[in-house]
Amino acid sequence: MHELYTVLAEYYDAIYRKRAERVKKEIDFVEEIFKNDAKRDVKRILDLACGTGIPTLELAERGYEIVGLDLHEEMLEVAKEKAQQRGLNIRFLQEDALEINFENEFDAVTMFFSSIMYFDEENLQGLFKGVVKALRPGGVFVADFPCWFYGGSDGPILWDEQNGNERLVITDWREVEPAFQKLRFKRLVQIIKPNGDTKAFFVNDELNIYTPREMKLLAREHFSEVKIYGHLKRELMPNDRRYWLVGIK
Ligand SMILES: C[S@@+](CC[C@H](N)C(=O)[O-])C[C@H]1O[C@@H](n2cnc3c(N)ncnc32)[C@H](O)[C@@H]1O
Repeated sequence: MHELYTVLAEYYDAIYRKRAERVKKEIDFVEEIFKNDAKRDVKRILDLACGTGIPTLELAERGYEIVGLDLHEEMLEVAKEKAQQRGLNIRFLQEDALEINFENEFDAVTMFFSSIMYFDEENLQGLFKGVVKALRPGGVFVADFPCWFYGGSDGPILWDEQNGNERLVITDWREVEPAFQKLRFKRLVQIIKPNGDTKAFFVNDELNIYTPREMKLLAREHFSEVKIYGHLKRELMPNDRRYWLVGIK
């Protein structure tokens, strides 16, 4: 069971509030990629690992026809409720991104906020195969992932957020394991009610680290053209902290 995406799903948007506030800028950049890199007009999108729909809803609000897909029902429940509140018509599917079986259905496939790191090298091959099959010719795949160098932390990282009348205190320990290229993070989430009652959840996660060059080489086997951009700009610069993989069918 993955606590962050199950028992903590209702707190996900509060835990990542700062990121949610930046999503408009991210989607501005994604639209720039759609316009400049895709070799067809982008109208219909598949958002893989859509979670609670932070980018999915933003894309839908901008007029794209979008399908959101995620492994965890709890995350999708949050996404569905938000879509309903905002009057957005989005189709959500509970499925493993490795099991998708769409054929020539989408102009773009997206996978945001490091979700691609859940796939090791072997699974990445399966993922890219499914994505390419789902895309229409000239369609584009867009996924972002962080630079490993900035992934670890010497000590705990602590922040707090408000969720309604509850206070969340989040503590992360992040460790880069270089030989097998894993990013291990442990997270303690404490939920404090106004009367002081506290619940605590512990998250233990392991993600796969890729350098831009590795990602490019792996993706090249599946896409006709592959680019790696830095964060929110269509070029890669030294010391970029986040990368955007762009694969064109
Ligand atoms: C860091 S969250 C990102 C959620 C969303 N894309 C966003 O930008 O906020 C990672 C998501 O990946 C989903 N996930 C992990 N493995 C998956 C898989 N094999 N298939 C589909 N979704 C998966 C999790 O359920 C979770 O919602």
